[in-house]
Amino acid sequence: MISAGKFIVNCDLAATQRIVAIGDIHLGAAQCDKKLLRETIESVRTDPNALWIGMGDYGDFHDIKHRFFAASDLDPEIYNANNIGNFSRATQDALVKEFEPIKDKCIGLVMGNHEYNFMRRNLESGWMDDFAARLGVQNLGYRAVIHMVYRQAEKASSGKSKKKASKAKREEVKYTIFAVHGAGSSGSVSGKKKRLQKYMDEVFVGADIYLMGHVHLLDYTLDTKLTTNEAGTEIVPLPRLGVITGTYLRTFSDSALPGYGEMKGYAPTALGSPTVSITPSLDLVGVETKFKRRQG
Ligand SMILES: [Fe+2]
Repeated sequence: MISAGKFIVNCDLAATQRIVAIGDIHLGAAQCDKKLLRETIESVRTDPNALWIGMGDYGDFHDIKHRFFAASDLDPEIYNANNIGNFSRATQDALVKEFEPIKDKCIGLVMGNHEYNFMRRNLESGWMDDFAARLGVQNLGYRAVIHMVYRQAEKASSGKSKKKASKAKREEVKYTIFAVHGAGSSGSVSGKKKRLQKYMDEVFVGADIYLMGHVHLLDYTLDTKLTTNEAGTEIVPLPRLGVITGTYLRTFSDSALPGYGEMKGYAPTALGSPTVSITPSLDLVGVETKFKRRQG
């Protein structure tokens, strides 16, 4: 587990800032919705107030050593006769190509169980470090705490107003994020939400925002604990937001050959990524879990 330190965002504190949690992409699987992924990436690229965090399972990693390997499950646009012998590099190249346009807006990359197990299976413990290094971002490991610091950006000005601006520059609002790929194999929505609540109640209690992937669901929860003010003279509520960060992997194939999600009986799920919105000057935190009605 990593404490990732501060991630400083110079911005207009009155403007709504966004963090898009992109995970469980399973690129390389024939059932990965690349079109939707590219739309999400484009929405981050074109939004000046958007950042993103990677939530793990970037690749599907069902290589020939995996018990679910099936040639029909591989994306033919990614794997071919020339690169299948270097499955690791082919997967990483495809991922780097997808995320290249938004690499400068990345908070960091959480590692998924599909990365971890691929690395373990193939003695490639450096795969995740290499992937993060190629994008120039931080490898956050399986779970991490990130301290987001939103600072009022200095506005271009001169004379008297310059003094005002430098005063405003010191204004900052902080939020703590706990991000984890996730665990568990419950197929029910309540079981998946319970897993998120477990992280919120039993693993790390001091965050404002919890992000969890792995369970392939778009959902969120809000709860409130009590704490005291800094002086210790007042009981104050501490509201917390927990978000389950979706997927891009369809659980059904469009042919007679089933994907592994279909074989395992996974329920269909809405695809996409949730967006956490933060308006620092108002101390407002929200979440948007939009999805496309027609997918694939
Ligand atoms: Fe996943």
